[in-house]
Amino acid sequence: MLPAADHLLRLLGLERTAFRRHAVSALLLLLLFLAFRLLLRLARLCWRFHATCRRLRCFPEPPRRSWLLGHLGMYLPNETGLQDEKKVLDNMHHVVLVWMGPVLPLVVLVHPDYIKPLVGASAAVAPKDELFYGFLKPWLGDGLLLSKGDKWSRHRRMLTPAFHFDILKPYMRIFNQCAHVMHAKWRRLAEGSVVSLDMFEHVSLMTLDSLQKCVFSCSSNCQDEDGKELSDEDIRAEADTFMFEGHDTTSSGLSWVLFNLAKYPEYQEKCREEVQEVMRGRELEELEWDDLTQLPFTTMCIKESLRQFPPVTLVSRRCTEDIKLPDGRVIPKGIICLVSIYGTHHNPTVWPDSKVYNPYRFDPDNPQQRSPLAFVPFSAGPRNCIGQSFAMAEMRVAVALTLLRFRLSVDRTRKVRRKPELILRTENGIWLNVEPLPPRA
Ligand code: HEM
Repeated sequence: MLPAADHLLRLLGLERTAFRRHAVSALLLLLLFLAFRLLLRLARLCWRFHATCRRLRCFPEPPRRSWLLGHLGMYLPNETGLQDEKKVLDNMHHVVLVWMGPVLPLVVLVHPDYIKPLVGASAAVAPKDELFYGFLKPWLGDGLLLSKGDKWSRHRRMLTPAFHFDILKPYMRIFNQCAHVMHAKWRRLAEGSVVSLDMFEHVSLMTLDSLQKCVFSCSSNCQDEDGKELSDEDIRAEADTFMFEGHDTTSSGLSWVLFNLAKYPEYQEKCREEVQEVMRGRELEELEWDDLTQLPFTTMCIKESLRQFPPVTLVSRRCTEDIKLPDGRVIPKGIICLVSIYGTHHNPTVWPDSKVYNPYRFDPDNPQQRSPLAFVPFSAGPRNCIGQSFAMAEMRVAVALTLLRFRLSVDRTRKVRRKPELILRTENGIWLNVEPLPPRA
């Protein structure tokens, strides 16, 4: 900087004057002042970080890899990572502190009573954090999933009626039709025999097809009580959000249910009998809205699958104020929290034998003493999933029609290995043997 100043003074013909001395002194003073401010800021940051660390000391941590990496690289997005997470869960039943490198702590909540203050907090107290959701912005825009504050509450209010039962009922025809198209393709591929198919591939195409038809055929009146309409950009962001949130999640949920039913033929047969009973004496193989309540066992199987393999394994929030947990410990303001849906669903103190697929956990005739937050595949609270009734209806239609027309078994030549990305997928798909059943008499 000083040579640059010298050069400037030379250009101005002032290099040998007293002015030079003054200019150089002023410049040095300025530099000192800037360095001091920087040091002060750094000291304040260190002090704040130290204070936060002290406040976080009450939370248990799994062993760290090193002070530099923290727990980075330990919870990998693959089968091994999920198994490691389960091992941690077997020892830490409420809350876990993990470090992403040396300076970024994350508080992971894995128990219904502990996720409650977070998911129940207003969207202003625990907004979505930029770190985990920011990278979706260029893709999804400022739609419901990512928007905040007034914009979010206005859009949520406007879009909620679009998921009312009366609006969903006509979608039943679309769900039925899209399942028919997928099944016709399966019959062609099977050529009267058995064929091994990747459920993820086929089911994704079906849910994409149905969502596109539902989203773009809907003529909702997107105008709220203040007369404020959604702009073209808003509509685009909401359509993109529904397409992403709606199709990938539902296809993951459905693929895992079909996998579980293929793995447990006794449950598969029980669901099939239930559907056959509903369809008895009908000419048209089409499920209607009122039929959905006549499928209690199928619904239990779907719920147990969403527990075991939740399509969205975690959601994250930033605490904009201190948040008190039920045991009195406090999550300090500014910390990012992960509400682990997978962790809550596999918490051994809430779900004994959590690895076992047991649909009777959801038997309405034998209700269990469980917190309503023990099962949260659609999250909970003000920012829960707006499309859960839509998804549950579509999954029930697709499972029921699939079992009516096909027998499923696991293709033992291809191992299923879980892969938790944005959505819970698998490394190489879910391959099932699909055997067409003779047409109903
Ligand atoms: C099995 C299927 C589904 C699962 C497991 C699921 C799960 C979730 C979860 C966990 C959230 C909370 C995300 C967060 O807090 O970051 C969420 C939010 C959301 N979901 Fe779903 N979802 C499913 C289907 C759908 C469908 C079918 C739609 C639309 C047609 C949809 C639209 C949305 C939207 C717009 C949000 C953001 C809501 C808000 O913040 O106000 N989802 N979903």
